[in-house]
Amino acid sequence: MDVFVVEGNATISGSVGIVGAKNSVLPILAASLLTSEPLELENVPALADVATMLGILSELGSDVQRDVAKARLSICSAATIEPTAPWELVRKMRASFEVLGPLLGRTGRARVSFPGGCVFGLRPVDVHLKGLVALGANVRQEGGYVIAEAPRGGLRGAEIFLGTPFGSSVGATRNVMMAAVLAHGRTVLQGAACEPEIVDLTECLVKMGARIEGAGSPTIEIEGAGDRAALGGASHRVIPDRIEAGTFLVAGALLDGRVRVEGCRPGHLASLCDAFSRAGVALERGEDWLEVQPRGGEPLRPTDVTTQPYPGFPTDLQAQWMALMCRAEGVSVVTERIYSDRYMHLAELLRLGARIRREGATAVVEGTPTLSGASVMASDLRASAALVLAALAASGETEIHRVYHIDRGYERIEERFRGLGATIRREQR
Ligand code: EPZ
Repeated sequence: MDVFVVEGNATISGSVGIVGAKNSVLPILAASLLTSEPLELENVPALADVATMLGILSELGSDVQRDVAKARLSICSAATIEPTAPWELVRKMRASFEVLGPLLGRTGRARVSFPGGCVFGLRPVDVHLKGLVALGANVRQEGGYVIAEAPRGGLRGAEIFLGTPFGSSVGATRNVMMAAVLAHGRTVLQGAACEPEIVDLTECLVKMGARIEGAGSPTIEIEGAGDRAALGGASHRVIPDRIEAGTFLVAGALLDGRVRVEGCRPGHLASLCDAFSRAGVALERGEDWLEVQPRGGEPLRPTDVTTQPYPGFPTDLQAQWMALMCRAEGVSVVTERIYSDRYMHLAELLRLGARIRREGATAVVEGTPTLSGASVMASDLRASAALVLAALAASGETEIHRVYHIDRGYERIEERFRGLGATIRREQR
């Protein structure tokens, strides 16, 4: 397994280009199942999760032509699809569950493995299934699989509430939307997720011929085509990855360097920019870039964050923010409201000398002037990114094990940090 060896006390500066959003390209790839015509995508990141999704789609008969160097791909689903997504592939990545909606919409049936467990708590799919049942599907579980069948006359539009105790569900909004676009009649999604990745998927679906209004708001209205062959091919450029951009900006703040993220959407990072201003971190911004400024000797102020659905502070930046607060001058409170247990990074940050106490959904972070290098274990994708940041800030050398977690959602992260002046190398172990 690969290991990152990270030299601490790093200073970084310069520009880094932001790649396409993992959490947008994955559902858009699933949406290619809704038509037998090719979907041409640009700004496709070279991530392990993208490879996993392409593996599942190939298994479902899709033809993929890809130019990784140009971040382009063309994908065309089979004229007739055997709609089964096997456990061997689905277990690797939860997002693969989002082939369920498009398979059901396009073929009238689907057999998709229940998504595997997750390191940060239970991640049920009850709202996904509730939405499909509301569209008229018969949904049952058998042998670890979800089996969904549309009624003889096809799916029918409905009014569906998609909220969960933790706010709206991003995945359920997408899964149900991708089934509803081919249903008969109108669907109204209430309590829909508002993330930019929902808007990006919607823009792609509309280019394919779907009729959707309200994406980005809690109420989305879909005029179902009522015909499984209604959607066509399209060309679409995936939006930049706001979480990757946020990760590099937090790294710049943590290491007190001038770091510019280019090719991003500053408007997607309003809550992070707000947290930075409360922490005493100055930013400059342009139309498609953000640049964190050195503090010039000013301290990093302790700053509380609570994760919330978009446009609130993203749960996917919680671990990275915690790493930053390890160096603040004072005590910060980080509260995770989206997942019941997204604190896998705590134990590993403690190994680097951080002072963090957990109280249920809240972590109390006491900033300390020194973190010190150690061997640590990556766990979930964003926790692993936080360990890279903390290792760069720690004194001495840090080894990060199981970096395949990072490769799932960050493209060549060690090369790109080296491009900013860090000393970090990947070793085969
Ligand atoms: C998406 O996951 C993202 N993944 C996650 O990013 C992100 O953390 C999450 O949205 C929240 O923003 C992709 O887009 C591929 P949810 P998703 O359904 O759709 C509960 C990363 O690091 N819930 O919005 O699975 C659920 O347990 C990943 O890039 C139900 O209760 O998240 C959670 O507590 C990690 N019932 C909350 O809702 C359901 O049926 C939000 O989950 C569905 C979800």
